[in-house]
Amino acid sequence: MAKCLHFPQCGGCSLLNRTYKNQLSEKQNNLQSLFSNWNLEVSPIIESPQPLFYRHKVQLPFGFFKRSGGIVLGCYGCDSHKVINQTECVIQDKTLSKIAWTIREWATENRLSVYNEKTGTGFLRHVLLRKGAGTGEVLIGLVTNGEKPRGSRYLAQKLLEMTGQKKDEFKPVVGIVQNVNKRQTNVVLGEKQIVWWGRPFLKEKLGGLKFKIELSTFFQVNPYQLPRLYNRVLENIDKKTKVLDLYSGIGSIALWISSKAQTVLGIEENPFSVKAARISASVNNVKNVSFVAGDVAKLLPQYINFGFECAVVDPPRKGLDTRVLETVKNSGLKTLIYVSCNPETLFRDMEYLKHYYKPVSVTGVDMFPQTGHIECVVVANRIK
Ligand SMILES: C[S@@+](CC[C@H](N)C(=O)[O-])C[C@H]1O[C@@H](n2cnc3c(N)ncnc32)[C@H](O)[C@@H]1O
Repeated sequence: MAKCLHFPQCGGCSLLNRTYKNQLSEKQNNLQSLFSNWNLEVSPIIESPQPLFYRHKVQLPFGFFKRSGGIVLGCYGCDSHKVINQTECVIQDKTLSKIAWTIREWATENRLSVYNEKTGTGFLRHVLLRKGAGTGEVLIGLVTNGEKPRGSRYLAQKLLEMTGQKKDEFKPVVGIVQNVNKRQTNVVLGEKQIVWWGRPFLKEKLGGLKFKIELSTFFQVNPYQLPRLYNRVLENIDKKTKVLDLYSGIGSIALWISSKAQTVLGIEENPFSVKAARISASVNNVKNVSFVAGDVAKLLPQYINFGFECAVVDPPRKGLDTRVLETVKNSGLKTLIYVSCNPETLFRDMEYLKHYYKPVSVTGVDMFPQTGHIECVVVANRIK
């Protein structure tokens, strides 16, 4: 059992007081009971090779002490919007934690102000850090309520100095990017990006493939477990078939299955992700994948009749739009592989399709140890 001085106040890890084995059996039981009316045995959950220090994406809000105004940085408390002043975290990658706590010191030393949700004033909103597990590269993101500050070049140099980048032989930071978000909203990222130093993306290398990751593009947070999740998809792709990869992000699933499929078409709405996916296809010399940018609900009716036999869907937590479900229902797709970080919406969607697709396997993949979250892969075959 891992220990953290912020447990149980911190909202990050609700299962920290349980052994990993115990967490896995609880998740397995939850899936079995959620899918109980499907009359099939849920496959044994795939455990994470690294149950601690696995998160390669860190997103933390800034806050401040009411009396002193001192800067606070950390997760929100459980069931609250109060920021915990974290000094340790047992699920974040250790390098990223070190950099996060250094950013708090840097903000304090440079007297930067912190955003106040109630008044809409103050500068710093969130820290967003990403790391490539296969390359070690780190991208630093600072989400701010305001434009480029005066002296941003000096601030960037100070931050590089404080993170050890100037003296250490190993220099992980490849970029410092400011993201401007002036809206009074819970959505973390704004539209505008300003590069203070370096480049606005990091390179990642996993499973023999190279990827390009930016602040705003989706990539699984647990790189140790990612190959096991994608291999579960790969195992269920029939050789030389035409596959759709819906909600394709930076093309990671499309590229992963490209050696087995005949062709893969990815559909993704984030234009930065689509651009990154096309670059990765070219860098990895993969010729049988292509990507289109746009809303799956709008684009799928145009592409569904191009002879695709299988669709991999990996939507956000809210699951599939009814328009997508209707298109899939009326399609000629023989196999549906549904990947989801929210088993409840996955279940809802598969129930919608139950007269058309029969689930033949359900597998939990523990992408988020120490937390109550679980990733799930359901494979379903067309029945009529
Ligand atoms: C859970 S991520 C999956 C990404 C990718 N399959 C992967 O494994 O990294 C969901 C993706 O869906 C995209 N997305 C969300 N809503 C969408 C929509 N209506 N149409 C197309 N893409 C959408 C997001 O930008 C995000 O990249």
